[in-house]
Amino acid sequence: MDWKVSEREETGDVLVLPLWEGRNKPANNALSGLSRSSVINAKSAFKSRFDGKAGSKLSLWGDSCRVVLVGMGDIEKLSNKVARDAGAKTISSLSKKDGTNLTVRFTTGWTLDSMLWFIEGMMLRDYAFVKYRSKDKKEREEQGEWSVDFQASARYLSELNSGVSRIVGRVEGVHLARDLANEPPNYLYPMSYAERAKDWASDKQNVKVEVYDWDDLQKKGMYGLINVGKGSSRKPCMVLFTINPNADIKEKVPCIVGKGITFDTGGISLKPGASMDEMKYDMHGAATVFGLMHALYATGHRGRVQGIACLAENMPSADAYRPGDVIPTYSGKTIEVLNTDAEGRNVLADGLWKAGEYDPSYIIDLATLTGAVVVSLGHEATGLWSNDSKLQEKVHQAGNEEDEIAWKMPLLPAFEKEMTGSKIADVRNLGKSRWGGANTAAAFLKQFVPNRNFEEEGEQIPWAHLDIAGTAWGADTNAMVSHGATGIHVRTLHTLITKS
Ligand code: BES
Ligand code: MN
Ligand code: ZN
Repeated sequence: MDWKVSEREETGDVLVLPLWEGRNKPANNALSGLSRSSVINAKSAFKSRFDGKAGSKLSLWGDSCRVVLVGMGDIEKLSNKVARDAGAKTISSLSKKDGTNLTVRFTTGWTLDSMLWFIEGMMLRDYAFVKYRSKDKKEREEQGEWSVDFQASARYLSELNSGVSRIVGRVEGVHLARDLANEPPNYLYPMSYAERAKDWASDKQNVKVEVYDWDDLQKKGMYGLINVGKGSSRKPCMVLFTINPNADIKEKVPCIVGKGITFDTGGISLKPGASMDEMKYDMHGAATVFGLMHALYATGHRGRVQGIACLAENMPSADAYRPGDVIPTYSGKTIEVLNTDAEGRNVLADGLWKAGEYDPSYIIDLATLTGAVVVSLGHEATGLWSNDSKLQEKVHQAGNEEDEIAWKMPLLPAFEKEMTGSKIADVRNLGKSRWGGANTAAAFLKQFVPNRNFEEEGEQIPWAHLDIAGTAWGADTNAMVSHGATGIHVRTLHTLITKS
């Protein structure tokens, strides 16, 4: 989307007017630049048909310019969700066939924040994964990008301009995460993700990408990753991102870890066939890490931030790991494998332990970890576990600000006891029953969060775990995306890191 900000004067092919409920007359300047007949049309629409209720919309065809009235509801009830959703629904309802020059005109009652929410909604929704759809791809190329003029009163323009620039960087990050997660598993596998990360870094100043390939994993003893990935001809790897590697050298900074199973068949504990294709999204945690790194970079974040992506393809084969195996991990702890489909936790065990080496201020992992979290929270919220209530609250708040709800879930000692109750290894990768499956998975991960400086009696590093199995894709109530990967929590973590 190309954009600019300006005062309320001219109009493009389409004029979008987001308006409040209960005001039956157009605000000052709302209709400037329109022809006389369009003004008359709009005024009579205000009198009769258009009530401004949230979700309502009315299109008026004029001689030169089409006018779209968008109902925003009661101004007192405006929330970031109402504003973002309205922006998203507006862009999805327009067709480029009517012209790609849009004017979005904000009138009385709009604040800087609320304008930015609306614009962010528009930009987030302006996305389609058409790479492999020949006709749509061609059509999109021919039609070109939207070109949008955001209009507001002069006193807002400078802040609006910098605000929109920041949004553009974040949205690029979200769209990058979606691109990675939507990419089919024959194209996106562990080492191809690593290549993309290296390509991304190659023309940028203050970012660093390091890759631990198959040989490196062996040397380091990262057998969580090795075991999950060894059944595939596409070998596993770990990708380590740093943005601003030379900043905050004496400070503790965040480290974000992502599950990156580029395809999850279940392995020897094979999944049923129905919807198995969806398991290409099983790397959305790693996609979010990459997208976040880009968002931080593109918005000019100055601080250092670490990211770790744990990549493997979980396949059944003669070389695959099996139920009954006991595997060592990077931490030194052993895992009894009871189900090869509980693979995300095995790769994260190595990633979380690695995170401790950065001595981070906190660790947050993201993973499409369990079907059980979808049973608990549906597609409406991510599950959020933490060993630190302050960190948990901060993540929760950042999620609320972005309308990416992260719901607090319990990390109870009983779940830890269940997962450390193996008769043959330190930790078991399966609960004793299927009840509370998302909680036992979180309790498993906690066993691999290092203490500060790896001291045996020390305090555990603050850590939060986001189970995004329900929010990474397929939410038809999520107005930010039409289908496929959502790019979930790029914005939450961007806000968490840049605003607190
Ligand atoms: N990737 C799946 C979890 C998942 C399920 C994500 C549905 C998205 C939608 C994960 O690796 C998995 O298979 N988990 C198992 C764990 C079980 C074997 C303890 C599950 O949830 O069934
Ligand atoms: Mn699995
Ligand atoms: Zn999985």
